[in-house]
Amino acid sequence: MIIAVDGPTASGKGTIARALAAHFGLPHLDTGLLYRAVGRQVFLDGGDPDDGGDALAATSFPDLLLHDPHLRSEETGGLASRVSVHPAVRQALFERQRVFATQAGGAVLDGRDIGTVIAPDADVKLFVTASVEARAERRWKEMRDAGIEVALSDIAADIRRRDERDSNRADAPLRVAEGAFVIDNSAMTREQATAAAIEAVEAAR
Ligand code: C5P
Repeated sequence: MIIAVDGPTASGKGTIARALAAHFGLPHLDTGLLYRAVGRQVFLDGGDPDDGGDALAATSFPDLLLHDPHLRSEETGGLASRVSVHPAVRQALFERQRVFATQAGGAVLDGRDIGTVIAPDADVKLFVTASVEARAERRWKEMRDAGIEVALSDIAADIRRRDERDSNRADAPLRVAEGAFVIDNSAMTREQATAAAIEAVEAAR
């Protein structure tokens, strides 16, 4: 069984994908980490994330910095969003995602284009979303708990910028895949959102 989980930044799709993987006993791939690793590599190389050549060169590192401690930072997220607009970068990362998706026994993948591009043949497609306000507030609390002081309005502005870039790029823009089940968790707890996702998978498979 292939489960595709797509959605915008800070929507909780990663949490839901991990919970589904644990519940159904499937391996999980957070595809955003691949783009983050490329963005991070471009930065370390002193390259320009908006330059397709620099970004493509950063994909040829075999281990893609997948364990770099800076991978989950907001800065790296911004770099990831910039390198991910280049079609050559998306193409370079396609095969490993496809291989992961189609492995024997199934898999859960989360990202922006899993149900539309990487696994349009997925058995179940979920689109996890929430209002900008709800996402900004959750991200703000996470950062505050980690001892990082940032204005809520700055986080909301960053989320809007990322939504805009991810939704308006020409190649593999963020879209609700055909046949996807939409979970808007603006007013849900984490547990409620996870339960809704498990229910949707049970119903669709
Ligand atoms: O999901 P995450 O925030 O880690 O993703 C970082 C960036 O990588 C996203 O803003 C998006 O631009 C890009 N991305 C993508 N396609 C995916 C996963 C992530 O373009 N499948």
